[in-house]
Amino acid sequence: MTGVSYWLNSTGDPPLAPSPPVNADVVVLGAGIAGITTAYLLKQAGLTVTVIEAGDRLAAGVTGHTTAKVTSQHGAIYSSLTSRFGQDTARAYGAGQQLAIDWIETEAAAIGADADWSRRDSYAYAERPSSVEGLRREAGAAADAGLPASFTTETGLPFDVAGAVRFTNQAQFHPRKWLLELATRIPGDGGTIVTGIRALGLTEGDPCVVVTTAGPVRARHVVVATHYPIFDRGLYFARLEPRRDLVVAGYPAAAGPDGMYISTEDRHSVRTAPAGDGRSLLLAGGEPHRVGARTSVARHYDALRTWARERLSLDEPAYRWLAHDLTTVDALPYVGGFHRRTRNVWVATGFGHWGMTNGTLAGTLLRDLITGVENPLAGVLDPQRLTVRQSATEFVKANAYVATRFVGDRVDALAARRGAESVPAGRGRIVTDGPRAIAAYRDDDGALHCVSARCTHLGCLVVFNDAERTWDCPCHASRFDTDGRVLAGPAVRPLSPADPPD
Ligand SMILES: Cc1cc2nc3c(=O)[nH]c(=O)nc-3n(C[C@H](O)[C@H](O)[C@H](O)COP(=O)(O)OP(=O)(O)OC[C@H]3O[C@@H](n4cnc5c(N)ncnc54)[C@H](O)[C@@H]3O)c2cc1C
Ligand code: FES
Repeated sequence: MTGVSYWLNSTGDPPLAPSPPVNADVVVLGAGIAGITTAYLLKQAGLTVTVIEAGDRLAAGVTGHTTAKVTSQHGAIYSSLTSRFGQDTARAYGAGQQLAIDWIETEAAAIGADADWSRRDSYAYAERPSSVEGLRREAGAAADAGLPASFTTETGLPFDVAGAVRFTNQAQFHPRKWLLELATRIPGDGGTIVTGIRALGLTEGDPCVVVTTAGPVRARHVVVATHYPIFDRGLYFARLEPRRDLVVAGYPAAAGPDGMYISTEDRHSVRTAPAGDGRSLLLAGGEPHRVGARTSVARHYDALRTWARERLSLDEPAYRWLAHDLTTVDALPYVGGFHRRTRNVWVATGFGHWGMTNGTLAGTLLRDLITGVENPLAGVLDPQRLTVRQSATEFVKANAYVATRFVGDRVDALAARRGAESVPAGRGRIVTDGPRAIAAYRDDDGALHCVSARCTHLGCLVVFNDAERTWDCPCHASRFDTDGRVLAGPAVRPLSPADPPD
């Protein structure tokens, strides 16, 4: 079983001329679905655009590790939005998602893109009878919000459910095939994409100056589409919650179900994808947990494999992967001005595990905001909206957790007083050198790799991920490889080198 996602394994990379980032009307940081879609649309609108991507491959962050259902059904969000903010907000949110689906389909047809696009019904299901009332409420709220929703007990899944909400005529696709089609149309005529270059800092002004690992680049507008915003202004680190999901995928003997599925009880997720060789790939997702939780990620994979075998007859997965997404304190994404005083720095984040539509929607909204076109979603998704302040309970809960980990993990590490000899081959542990906490990993050949355990974002102690062999930060989900290199932000700098303790 490979640890590379199917989307990354089944696609190559477009030839990009190696070039430094160049000054432009707009600099877009991050080449996931939000960044690539925004850049593509801004170029279409006649602006010069430079996309700066830290990784070596495009659409290889969370977007390369998604399940890529393109649907306005986001769990049971419409009953929650209606009761918290009223039907107008639920309607506006739902209409935006449906528009995103239609835009991808229309644009793909217009440019002749082949992205395995396929219209399907989507189901949010529950197995416990006690959950049925909630599903009926969700079906009603979604239908009232103008969406193609109804309650059903027929899903096509190979196991019984107590009930489900069905959204008809939704879609699925291959996210990387789609985004590479868009990305290859960005370079030229004032458009540039660079990979392997990390944004490190930003000085706001007119123009703004982005500091990158390849030098400064200037732009009238900067779009921060780095998944977790990398700049510590606007308090994003205090109002986004990272949650990870795992995926296994393979080729079961019998064809998988026709629809797209998500459990409202345990978040198990199911869809199929054409593998290009006549076979159909079955994807099963689940085992949600907070990044850096005190838990074994390898055991979560075992549990997901068991579930996929027992429920879907997927005996031997060919792929496994994981990623985390970010949820805002009021469950609506943040798309708009980066902070209260800015007029030319923009952000798109907090897609709540539904970034295929929300990331696309973010592109259309940011294009309109930057080019001065009115958009009905500007107020609903404004990162400074009033509802963010109304969600004080969620805000306090998220930050209490971070505070506990910031202090508690240090106390635990110092109390354990572990030395490097306690680290077995293939494992990582936090060991101590006097008052210093060191992230020590012993590779399969017995060599020790030591780096500071202090996350370079805001200083929480990293935790070893025993399935991926990475160091993950429990506070805001930065990830580092065992030599300290950044794999995922908000951190932009590697973990400091450290000597093994004596
Ligand atoms: C397991 C899983 C399943 C999911 N399934 C679905 C689904 O079925 N349907 C759905 O709608 N959504 C789904 N989602 C959510 C969706 O995948 C995400 O919301 C979406 O991909 C996020 O896109 P993004 O562009 O914001 O982030 P990313 O794709 O992570 O892009 C951000 C980019 O910024 C780059 N970057 C970071 N820091 C820097 C820096 N300092 N300088 C330059 N570049 C930088 C990163 O390398 C990355 O390429 C799922 C998520 C997960 C985890
Ligand atoms: S990601 Fe914020 S402290 Fe590590």
